[in-house]
Amino acid sequence: MNEITLQIKYTEYNGTDQLPFDDKMLIMKARDAAKKAYAPYSGFRVGASVLLENGIIITGSNQENAAYPSGICAERTALFYASSQYPKVPIIAIAVSTINISATSSDIAKPCGACRQVMAEYEDLSGKPLRIILDSTDKVVIVIGMDSLLPLRFKKEDLK
Ligand code: THU
Repeated sequence: MNEITLQIKYTEYNGTDQLPFDDKMLIMKARDAAKKAYAPYSGFRVGASVLLENGIIITGSNQENAAYPSGICAERTALFYASSQYPKVPIIAIAVSTINISATSSDIAKPCGACRQVMAEYEDLSGKPLRIILDSTDKVVIVIGMDSLLPLRFKKEDLK
């Protein structure tokens, strides 16, 4: 028997002041995208912005539906749009922001499992660790590489 302990790593910042320009830009775009969410059922509005290697930024927001499972998260809206418009262009970073009207305090945006799975596959395609920026009003968390957000994940190689 082997007991294995995995470590995850991330960096926390108090706000956006110390962040590089690209990160600040992605956060601004994700915050702006959250305002465009269609979330009448949860009231939880999420925005995502995706930076492609060619410098293009794609944004998306969560889109809900009266048939609840038909909705989709902001991250996948942005990632699928990015990949469908620029199929061969590596995705290098993603920022996620939320607006929760019923929350008493704000916490960082935390992508759901399905979005993590999708982020991880695009990271594998790009061949480089994805930069994940999780935003909140008073703190920003940066994670480099999906191994810290989704260890032991299912991969396309597992289908072979
Ligand atoms: N949601 C996202 O868009 N991204 C996340 O990271 C977490 C959850 C959406 C899905 C649903 O529209 C609402 O937030 C509440 O779960």
